[in-house]
Amino acid sequence: MAGMTEYQTITGNETVLRDGTIKLHGPEGFEGMRKAGRLAAEILDAMVDLVKPGVTTGELDDVVRQMTLDAGAVPATMGYRGYAHSCCISLNNVICHGIPGDKVIRDGDILNIDVTPLLDGWHGDSSRMYIAGDAPLKARRLIDVTYECLMIGIEKAKPGARLGDIGAAIQVHAEGHRYGVVREFCGHGLGRLFHDAPEVIHAARAGTGPVLKPGMFFTIEPMINLGKPGAKMLSDGWTAVTRDRSLSAQFEHSIGITETGCEIFTASPKGLDCPPYA
Ligand code: MF3
Ligand code: CO
Ligand code: CO
Repeated sequence: MAGMTEYQTITGNETVLRDGTIKLHGPEGFEGMRKAGRLAAEILDAMVDLVKPGVTTGELDDVVRQMTLDAGAVPATMGYRGYAHSCCISLNNVICHGIPGDKVIRDGDILNIDVTPLLDGWHGDSSRMYIAGDAPLKARRLIDVTYECLMIGIEKAKPGARLGDIGAAIQVHAEGHRYGVVREFCGHGLGRLFHDAPEVIHAARAGTGPVLKPGMFFTIEPMINLGKPGAKMLSDGWTAVTRDRSLSAQFEHSIGITETGCEIFTASPKGLDCPPYA
């Protein structure tokens, strides 16, 4: 978290200031995000057939990197604050920022893959859940409800609404199922920057926060735990897990506020971004 510190980030050939204000983008921004978002969706679409028992998370990361580079983009996570991989892969009780490596995916595992291609200076940030083989009903229910949380949040994203309306709707839905909403990580503004203002919290009060305006770009990426909301960080400095070791799920889209509602930049062209996948 950069907090309120001002600093500059170089994306492509340009210098973009992170000053805490919420940027309002025009048609060029929408066009850029549409392309970056589509690439994110295509990469996540390709993962559907690759996630299966016996595959390592490092092998999936290799495919993400290759697909990203082949499309003329770069994985924004590579070199981001010392992170060295092309995506994050978070299994079972891992909430987010799981590091790809030698870990072998097993039958019944649930996992989130989070990709962020940087294409022509624009960031497409998206994640989805995958199931390896057969997962128990309670895991599949968690995944379905987490996806519902994302889409309920997206329905609230329109001009005139407040940012807090999104988190409020997500929290009501998740807690109605007795799930826990993770507080330690939030969605974020993005565009030419990977992480920009505003912070999009997923447990919030309706009617609070900034008023949404056309041209705002941000992610919604609720992390929902089967048990309590608490998170803790592993010693690698990245991997966040549930304190009570319960399963956790997450879905993420990058969106832009339009005159009438919002555009989902990272929607799957094949409709593969919504469970149940079976
Ligand atoms: N893609 C993540 C997000 O949704 C950020 C990952 S940063 C990394 O914001 F360094 F952990 F990869
Ligand atoms: Co994000
Ligand atoms: Co992400």
